[in-house]
Amino acid sequence: MSTFEQEKEVRVLIAYASRHGATRGIAERIGAELRQEGLDATLLPAKQARDVAAYDAFVVGGAAYYFHWMKEAAAFVRRNRAVLAERPVWLFSSGPLGTEPRDAQGRDVRETAEPKEFAELEPAIHPRDQRVFFGALDRDKLGLFERMLTSMPAVRDSGGLPFGDFRDWEEIDAWAASIARELKAATAGAV
Ligand SMILES: Cc1cc2nc3c(=O)[nH]c(=O)nc-3n(C[C@H](O)[C@H](O)[C@H](O)COP(=O)(O)O)c2cc1C
Repeated sequence: MSTFEQEKEVRVLIAYASRHGATRGIAERIGAELRQEGLDATLLPAKQARDVAAYDAFVVGGAAYYFHWMKEAAAFVRRNRAVLAERPVWLFSSGPLGTEPRDAQGRDVRETAEPKEFAELEPAIHPRDQRVFFGALDRDKLGLFERMLTSMPAVRDSGGLPFGDFRDWEEIDAWAASIARELKAATAGAV
């Protein structure tokens, strides 16, 4: 390995889409962990991220709403699919709420909460990993329409949407650390 390659910093773009801030918090935490591991991590809302060719790797995250990844996250991947297909990419969503790993029917809530877009985008960009994290919901941050929706009898009768912060920081840190390990190993192996 040449001195230049040894010294080259790996530039990682963390592009996120977040309506109420829970997913942005996860993205920030991943950024902090990557920086602590010596990587050059940049955090940007997916809508604003441009010039992606300048980055060596990508983490793309979005909240799940109505079984879909936020459209800004999916649009970012679609818009930049040619670059993303050639570089390491990790995807995550923040969605299920509550503390129960299974729903009333016994299904894994992370599986049922996986946004439909993951399966659609997988063949185009072959992400290294795609992860569903538990999210957060603060009643006070909801707009009028969302408040009405979340208090509809049909939603209430099926248990309602639990309010609170269910993000598992240990799990998020461990995932970020695994990304850092993979990227550092790849750089060390570069000739
Ligand atoms: C109206 C509404 C619909 C939601 N739909 C889903 C969903 O389909 N799947 C899911 O896993 N979470 C769903 N959630 C939970 C959010 O995805 C979760 O709160 C997320 O962490 C919010 O992220 P944000 O604050 O970055 O927008 C919904 C929340 C609301 C208020």
